[in-house]
Amino acid sequence: MQQRFTYLTVTLAGLAGWLTLAPVAPADEITRGEMLSVSCAGCHGTDGKSPGSIPSIAGKSADTIETALKEFRSGQRESTVMGRHAKGYTDEEIKLIAAYFGSVK
Ligand code: HEC
Repeated sequence: MQQRFTYLTVTLAGLAGWLTLAPVAPADEITRGEMLSVSCAGCHGTDGKSPGSIPSIAGKSADTIETALKEFRSGQRESTVMGRHAKGYTDEEIKLIAAYFGSVK
């Protein structure tokens, strides 16, 4: 009886945990974009708010950032470092990064 009770408790706890987590599943995308954006923060500042001479990217629209990254990557847009940096990302990752910075106020 004791054992059965423990089993039931664990099952219910697991189920409760799953139910709590389930609704936030779509936020995975945002989390990934945010994670990818960490590599930009070193130069562009936390959340893209640059403290120095490198341009801020916070406040730009997702479209603007996506286009800029793709143009840097293809060499269409002149750059010193962005061309090399942008080459490390797939289209999907660029979209996620752009969506993240586009959502930062
Ligand atoms: C090593 C430093 C460095 C890193 C890392 C970096 N950037 Fe940049 N970024 C620059 C510099 C410098 C420029 C100006 C263009 C150039 O010379 O490359 C720039 C320009 C830009 C621009 C154009 C801004 C404008 O106003 O024209 C965007 C958008 C941008 N970066 C986005 C990003 C994103 C998104 C990431 C992360 C995936 C990133 N950058 C990572 C240094 C960096």
